[in-house]
Amino acid sequence: MHTSSTISGAPPTLVVGSGSRHLAEAVEHGTGLRRAACTAERFPDGEVSVRLDGPVRGHEVLLLAATSPPVNDHLVELLAMADACRRADAARIVALIPYFGYARSDRRDGRRTPIMARLVAELAERAGIDHVITVDVHTPALEGFFRSPVDNLSAVPALAAALQRRPPLDGVIVAPDLGAVRLANRYATALGLPVAVCYKQRLGGSEVRIARITGDVAGRRCIIIDDMISTGGTIVESMRALADAGALPNTIVAATHAVFAPGALEKLERAGVDELFVSDTIVPVAEVGGRLEPHVVSIAPLISTAVHRLLEGGSLRELA
Ligand code: R5P
Repeated sequence: MHTSSTISGAPPTLVVGSGSRHLAEAVEHGTGLRRAACTAERFPDGEVSVRLDGPVRGHEVLLLAATSPPVNDHLVELLAMADACRRADAARIVALIPYFGYARSDRRDGRRTPIMARLVAELAERAGIDHVITVDVHTPALEGFFRSPVDNLSAVPALAAALQRRPPLDGVIVAPDLGAVRLANRYATALGLPVAVCYKQRLGGSEVRIARITGDVAGRRCIIIDDMISTGGTIVESMRALADAGALPNTIVAATHAVFAPGALEKLERAGVDELFVSDTIVPVAEVGGRLEPHVVSIAPLISTAVHRLLEGGSLRELA
């Protein structure tokens, strides 16, 4: 793939953080970018230690770094890498953040709480990030938290294509909460299926309740979609409410971000999830001995296309 260069003639350079190493080779191959040698370690006291092992002066840097669990480590590493690139005089720093941690903290919930997504945006800009490209970010508010451009790509076309290989004719796409309705509509359009919506109340970090469902689910096979699965609580509670409403068993689940807190896969398996589709914005963790093995769809081609278009000065809108 052809790549452009900056005015100084320096070629664009890929720098990869610990949370995205599993994508590095495919993105390097898909973009033709040179990957800068970079060391990311921890000091004995847990502090993050980052070093670029080659020059980036005058280069456009594509910094591929998901802020996936361990979120705080990966976030500090992203900031440290951006700061290192800026101090080494990179021409522009574009952060490719396939999973944007803390995006769920996009407003105060009425108590004395921070807005972490906004704080992360400020830190990222302070560290020198000029442009952010992310995937199915939890909140559209993120764009407003940055002054710099933000492009939100979507893994839905790739996940829908994987589901398309065996679409249940009697299926219904289910949004497990109001925040997932936009995604649900995209899946429904791609698969030609109707949509149902669950009304979710969050009772705690890992406890949710579905108060009611709109849409016709009785006698139908449900495809529950979401932007992320963390504890699995949302999916399991949705399955319970859908079963009460007469939905068929053998639920299919599709989510962009496989955050998978410890025990999440086991919980989904116990609840009877039949098939699970996720992308690799986060390195997928298989649970030892588990029956439920996720089908993993790679976002590397999406990222590569986005980088290609960006460097050619094209629009990323079609990838959103
Ligand atoms: C919340 O609004 C998100 O879209 C997900 O539904 C939620 O974060 C999933 O978390 P968990 O798997 O812990 O229920």
